[in-house]
Amino acid sequence: MKTVLITGASSGIGKEFAEIFASEGYQVILASRSEEKLNEVASYLLESYRTETVIIPVDLAQYDGARLLYEEVKRRSLEVDVLINNAGIGSYGFLHKLDVQSELDMLQLNVHSLSHLMMLFLRDMVARNNGYILNVGSTTSFYACPLSANYSASKAFVLSLTEAVANELAGTGVSVTALCPGGTGTAFFQKAKMDKQRVAKPKSLMQANKVARVGYNALMQRKTFVIPGLQNWLLAQAPRIFPRKLTTSVTRKVLEQTQ
Ligand SMILES: NC(=O)c1ccc[n+]([C@@H]2O[C@H](COP(=O)([O-])OP(=O)(O)OC[C@H]3O[C@@H](n4cnc5c(N)ncnc54)[C@H](OP(=O)(O)O)[C@@H]3O)[C@@H](O)[C@H]2O)c1
Repeated sequence: MKTVLITGASSGIGKEFAEIFASEGYQVILASRSEEKLNEVASYLLESYRTETVIIPVDLAQYDGARLLYEEVKRRSLEVDVLINNAGIGSYGFLHKLDVQSELDMLQLNVHSLSHLMMLFLRDMVARNNGYILNVGSTTSFYACPLSANYSASKAFVLSLTEAVANELAGTGVSVTALCPGGTGTAFFQKAKMDKQRVAKPKSLMQANKVARVGYNALMQRKTFVIPGLQNWLLAQAPRIFPRKLTTSVTRKVLEQTQ
C-alpha cells in the first residue's frame, strides 16, 4: 500500500487531499496542530473509505517542526511515497503595522518548514528513485501583493523552489509539483483577517475539492506547476503582459476592496 503525508490536513484543501488519497486506496498520514480536528478527519476517512490513517499533531510554525514530523514518521517505520506540503496561512495589512512575531511564524510555516520537509523526504525518495511531492503555492506566487506582502513573497518562494528542484529531478523517478490556487472556499480568508475583503466573496471562490483534484491530477502527471481555473490562470499571466508596477498597484486596489 502506498503512503501519503499531508500537512494542513485538518481543514480546507488539505482535508480534500486526504479524501482523494483515501479514495485512491492510500494509507494517509495527517499532520497539523489540532489533534481533535485530525481525529475527526481520520474517523470520516475510516467510515467512508475504510482508510488506515496515522495522525501526527505538529506545529510547523516552530523552527524544529519539520524535523520532529520527519522523525515521528521514521519512528513509526513509515515510508512516504507522496508528500503534500500544504499547511500554510495568510495575513493582511501594511507590513509596518503587522505583528512582527506573527509574520515570522507565517514565514516559518509557509517557507522554512515547507522547504525543510521537502529536503528531508526528497533524500529518501531520490535514494529509492521513486516519489511525488506537491507544494501548495498560490496565484500570488506570480505577482507581488501589497497588504499581503510577506504572504505573496512566501508563495513566490514556493513556486521558485519547486521549479528549480523539478529541473534538478528531471530523468529521475521523483517529481515535484506546485499547486497555485486562486481564492478558494476554506477558512483561509477568515484566519488571515481578510474575510471582509471582496476577494473573499464566496461567489468568487473555487471549491476546495476541485482545487485539490486539479492538484492531484497534476501531481500524478508529474507537472511542474498547475493553476486551477481559467480565471486564475489569466490572473497569473498579468505580470508577463503588463508592467510589474502596474500589476502591483492593481493588485493593491483589488485587495483593498471590501464586500
Ligand atoms: N484558500 C485560499 O484562497 C488559498 C489560495 C491560495 C493558496 N492557498 C494555500 O492553500 C493551503 C491550505 O490552505 P486552506 O485554504 O486549505 O486553509 P485552511 O482551511 O485554513 O487550512 C490550513 C491548514 O494548515 C494547518 N496549519 C496552520 N498553521 C499550522 C501550523 N503552525 N502547523 C501545522 N499546520 C498548520 C491548519 O491546521 P491546524 O489549524 O490544525 O494547525 C489547516 O489544516 C495554504 O498553503 C494556503 O496558503 C489557499
